[in-house]
Amino acid sequence: MRDTATTCSLPDILLDWYDTHARIMPWRVPPADRAAGVQPDPYRIWLSEVMLQQTTVATVRDYFQRFTTRWPTVGDLAAAPDADVMGEWAGLGYYARARNLLKCARVVVEQHDGQFPADYATLLKLPGIGPYTASAVSSIAFDLPYTVLDGNVERVMARLYDIHTPLPAAKPELMVKAQALTPPYRPGDYAQAIMDLGATICTPKSPACGICPWRDPCLARKSGTATELPKKLPKKAKPIRHGTVYLARREDGAWLLETRPDKGLLGGMLGWPGSAWVDANDSRPAGQAPIEAQWYTAAGEVRHTFTHFHLMLTVMRADLAGDPSPEMGLFIPAKDFRPSDLPTVMRKAFDLIQ
Ligand code: ADE
Repeated sequence: MRDTATTCSLPDILLDWYDTHARIMPWRVPPADRAAGVQPDPYRIWLSEVMLQQTTVATVRDYFQRFTTRWPTVGDLAAAPDADVMGEWAGLGYYARARNLLKCARVVVEQHDGQFPADYATLLKLPGIGPYTASAVSSIAFDLPYTVLDGNVERVMARLYDIHTPLPAAKPELMVKAQALTPPYRPGDYAQAIMDLGATICTPKSPACGICPWRDPCLARKSGTATELPKKLPKKAKPIRHGTVYLARREDGAWLLETRPDKGLLGGMLGWPGSAWVDANDSRPAGQAPIEAQWYTAAGEVRHTFTHFHLMLTVMRADLAGDPSPEMGLFIPAKDFRPSDLPTVMRKAFDLIQ
């Protein structure tokens, strides 16, 4: 441990804090092991970073364990059937991430010999890898001096420098500050340290300024503005849409489902056949039932919020006699049907009829 009274560089103070306070995560190499020469597995770092976009660490842990138990290497993941990967991803949301995850794994196997490239520009060319993920993998997996700027780091920078420009306009300014702080040594530990600081100390509502390693240099703490920062432009209200889904069960217990088209919301995921989802001002769409049957309306409705709208779904239910041949979808035998393979909105429809 360095004596912080004599070394006062901001990165050093944060790295010292990280040495004793690093959170334990299943994909992370703890700082002491890293110092002893243990290298992180780029596959695990990439997978965790893709999962962590828009999703909390608490949620990601279980998904990460299941993925890496089932597919321990990028080669295993690349060889997996699409439906298996989409099923394991169900519930994590933002399903384009899962489709790109598979594409990326296959490109790494086919074009890079199964090794993630240790180079920012090459990483950036891979499917689903944008500037944030390329920086995170470059720094955390390969210890290259790239700067990560996620929501946590934005908040820490806005407070440390008392920046009042609202997001998203403040992003370039926050990036310049974050880059200026990123040290050429231990950049991987530093990236994880600043994310941990934002997640555990410099939290949105009640930051623990009293125990923050950066409490002395923090300008927002001096001005008493920490809890107001970062400023954000007011969010637009989300519109409401509505639609109908059809849940049909055959006599042998098989459920009628469909794989949604790759493009669009919930693309590539399993779901119940149903109507389009239309604006609440339009008349309520019944859509086309997938098969002629005695349909009844389930009590209640499904409510689900997506990034850009709230959805209200009417749930129709039917028991099918004989050997039905639907116009769309496929029957999934009872023994193969796992509600957990469904994206959350579709699982809520199933829950409603239980
Ligand atoms: N959030 C996203 N990536 C993270 C990481 N590597 N450590 C902590 N929090 C994170």
